[in-house]
Amino acid sequence: MNLSQTILNVEFSNPTVLASGIWGITASSWRRVAENGAGGVTTKSLWLKAHKGHPNPTVISNEHWTLNAVGLPDAGIEKAREEISDFMKDHPIPLIANIVAGSVEDFVKTAEEVVKLNPDFLEVNISCPNVEDEFGKPFACSELDAARVTKEVKAVSGSIPIFIKLSPQALNIGAVASACAEAGADGFTAINTVGPGMAIDLRSRKPILANKVGGLSGPGLKPISVRCIADVYRATDGKLPIIGTGGVHSGEDALELMLAGASLIGIGTAVSDRGESIFKKVCDEMDAWCEAEGVKEIGEMIGAVEY
Ligand SMILES: Cc1cc2nc3c(=O)[nH]c(=O)nc-3n(C[C@H](O)[C@H](O)[C@H](O)COP(=O)(O)O)c2cc1C
Repeated sequence: MNLSQTILNVEFSNPTVLASGIWGITASSWRRVAENGAGGVTTKSLWLKAHKGHPNPTVISNEHWTLNAVGLPDAGIEKAREEISDFMKDHPIPLIANIVAGSVEDFVKTAEEVVKLNPDFLEVNISCPNVEDEFGKPFACSELDAARVTKEVKAVSGSIPIFIKLSPQALNIGAVASACAEAGADGFTAINTVGPGMAIDLRSRKPILANKVGGLSGPGLKPISVRCIADVYRATDGKLPIIGTGGVHSGEDALELMLAGASLIGIGTAVSDRGESIFKKVCDEMDAWCEAEGVKEIGEMIGAVEY
C-alpha cells in the first residue's frame, strides 16, 4: 500500500519519523535514519547557547518503559547550523528542527536562527520549565504560556510550519492545543515523556539515575499518548496535523495512534529496542495489517476512532 502523505505541502514517503533526542545529532546520523527507511527525522532539542545535560547514569530501561534524564544537552546553535546546513544540501527526507528555551524571548531568538536554515517544520518543545514563572511551571502546562510561545514563534517563522510539542503533564491537553491553534500553531507533536518517574536500586537504596528522576517513554507510555492524541484531535476538530509520538514499537501501535488522530508517527525509544531498521519494520507491519483488513488508503485511518 502507498504509505506516502503530503503534510502542509511537505512530502513524506511514509508516516514514520525519528522522534526528537534519540539519535539525531549529526547530519550523518540523520542520513542513516533516511537510509533505514524513515519518512522524516527530528533533531534533538536545540538551545540558543550550549546547554549542559545531567550527569550519568541518565537512562534506565526495561521491556515496559525507559526513564531518561539526559537533561537536553546541546552544543548550541553554531553546531546545529553546521549539521542542519550539511543535511539540507541533499535533504533525502524532511527535517523537523526541534527547539527549546526557558523564556519566550529565547524561544523567539532560537526560532529566528533555526528558520534561516530552512527546515521543513519547526517543532517547539514547550515541556521545559518557564524560568519566568514563579514556580518554574513548564509552558506546556499553561494554556496562556503555551499560546504566548506559539504566537511569538509564529511571528518569526515565516513560511515554515510550526508544530507545538505538547506534554501529557497538562491538566487538559485539548485546551492547551486549542489555545495554541488559536495563536497560530500549524500542527502538534503529541506527546513528550510523562513523569517524572523514579527507579531505586535495592542494594544501594539509592535512585538509579544520577538526577534521581526522569521522563518515562516506551511501551508503557502508549495508552497515554493515544488518549492525548485523541484529545488534541477532537479539541482542534481534526484540522491540524498531529505527529503522534509515545510508545510505538510496531505497525499496529502506529495504526492505533493514527486512529486516535495522528498523521505522522514519531518513534523514539523503540529505535534502541528494535534497532535502526525499526522504521522499515513498522511500515511493513502497517502495510501487512492494512492489506489483511482491506484498508486501501492510509488516510482512512486518521482520526477514525469510533466513540
Ligand atoms: C533519551 C531520550 C531523549 C529525548 N530527548 C528529547 C529532546 O531533546 N527533545 C524532545 O522534544 N523530546 C525528547 N525526548 C522525548 C521523545 O522525543 C518522545 O517524545 C518520547 O520519548 C515518547 O516517544 P517514545 O515512547 O517513542 O520514546 C527524548 C526521549 C528520550 C528517551
